[in-house]
Amino acid sequence: MIEKDFWYKNAVMYTLDVETFQDSNNDGIGDFRGLISRMDYLATLGINCIWLLPFYPSPNRDNGYDIMDYYSVDSRLGNLGDFASFIQAARERGIRVIIDLVINHTSNQHPWFLEARKDKNSPYRDYYTWSKEKPENPEYEPAFKGEDNSIWEYDEVAKEYFLHRFYNHQPDLNLANPAVRKEIHQIMGFWLALGVSGFRVDAAHILVENDDPKDQGEFHDLIEDMREFITTHSRDAILLAEASGPPEVVGKFFKGKERMHMMFNFLLNQHTFLALATEEAEPVREGIAILPEKDFSSAWLNFLRHHDELNLEDLKPDQQKVVFEKYAPNKDMLIFGRGIRRRLAPMLNGDQRRLELAYSLLFSSPGTPVIQYGAEIGMGDDISLPGRNSVRTAMQWSPERNGGFSEASPSKLPRPSISQSDYSYKRLNVIQQQCQPGSLLNWMERLIRLRRQCPEIGNGELEVLKVKHKAVLVCAYRLNFELVVVHNLGGEACEVTLPLLKEDHESLIEIFSDSAYPAPKESEVELNPYGYRWFRIRKKEVHEEAQQKKKQQK
Ligand code: GLC
Ligand code: CA
Repeated sequence: MIEKDFWYKNAVMYTLDVETFQDSNNDGIGDFRGLISRMDYLATLGINCIWLLPFYPSPNRDNGYDIMDYYSVDSRLGNLGDFASFIQAARERGIRVIIDLVINHTSNQHPWFLEARKDKNSPYRDYYTWSKEKPENPEYEPAFKGEDNSIWEYDEVAKEYFLHRFYNHQPDLNLANPAVRKEIHQIMGFWLALGVSGFRVDAAHILVENDDPKDQGEFHDLIEDMREFITTHSRDAILLAEASGPPEVVGKFFKGKERMHMMFNFLLNQHTFLALATEEAEPVREGIAILPEKDFSSAWLNFLRHHDELNLEDLKPDQQKVVFEKYAPNKDMLIFGRGIRRRLAPMLNGDQRRLELAYSLLFSSPGTPVIQYGAEIGMGDDISLPGRNSVRTAMQWSPERNGGFSEASPSKLPRPSISQSDYSYKRLNVIQQQCQPGSLLNWMERLIRLRRQCPEIGNGELEVLKVKHKAVLVCAYRLNFELVVVHNLGGEACEVTLPLLKEDHESLIEIFSDSAYPAPKESEVELNPYGYRWFRIRKKEVHEEAQQKKKQQK
């Protein structure tokens, strides 16, 4: 039985940036009114939680991750009233909203920083970390190698260096300062009062590292304080950590009900790409095996791609090489020496069979799935755009001007819509795919519906079963019933014997697959190239018990 219903363990999440989703007043910039007008689309797609990228006032030098004011909405996107209407529109449709909480740093235009730099005695001075000399601390690497190669920047006004783990216009907050922690609680309280269901805690693995180079202790108590705050101020809001790193590092973010509710599953993400590249199941098995333990109330958030690069830092160099060679054949597809700045569809050459395989894997991975806006139609990227903007182009709704995103002149858009190649909005868009029964979009709706009917993936116990075939992955989830999902990662058809069908199992009931297969003979299962099949297992005793009950009722 399910211990308790934790909504986030069986949600289907969708991430979007208000700026690039839908423009309502045709100034070329997406806005909350536009997003509201698309809420029925999202509801009927079947997702039930939106993760919203930063929408706060910002100089926008890091896609809004450089915040100037934590308590407001960027005027280009709307105002707080529009935000409240959006929350209301989401609530009416049973959709929750989680927002980005960017507290590792502020913009250098934030009033705290402006005060801090000009007055040594200002209480805000201590909101940041300063140094008279440029410190040498090789244990911290700059996050954006190649673009920003130092983590200390000299400030002409302050006449000192300040710490910044990301861009030099993003000074790091001094989280050891109790006044800063109080600010964080206040920010969380504000948005919780406006109805959000939680926060994506940006750069959490960096957040917990002590900024004082002389004291390298980590302070997870910061996160424990946040958890306590959220638990006392909301019935069901969550903290979702954007934390990457090896298992022993990310494992610390889960600690029963004391730290994070959820964490991005960077480890499984990277191993899934290795599996797709090598067409072998072993990397997924390994990716699952190395996941640190967590208690029942916590969950992994699984993803394939999102608004950042596909970061492969946790794979071994020879493994990285395989993925880079396969999915980033041109140098300009790489970024920061560790990642790929492409969307999934072009990486898989737009091959729908392999896209379905990848998403079927994602949705059956242990945890909760999240997709990036446009993934449902297989949107492409624009490598000619700088940095990670390549994967942040406007949503493609229709074959009209700017893909139906905005009627403004294309030059007014923050980033041009994709209008060339197979990924052009002229051929690849929501309307066109809704008209085609076999489209990726129609398939994705079925997948989302299916995942929402499979609580055993979020709550059950997973066993990865060994089969002889190298390309085949078999996952069995057990709750009060059983689900078995079989994937063929390879390009050749095959047949496998499922090891789990014992005497007490009566039959396999197919609930989803890539094509119509003949019914399985006992435990033999056929698979097409890149095929996948989801089965429920009917147990003999359960069936017999039910029949006996029926008899008794008669
Ligand atoms: C996170 C965001 C990324 C941003 C960085 C700095 O990693 O996902 O987009 O650049 O934080 O805020
Ligand atoms: Ca607008």
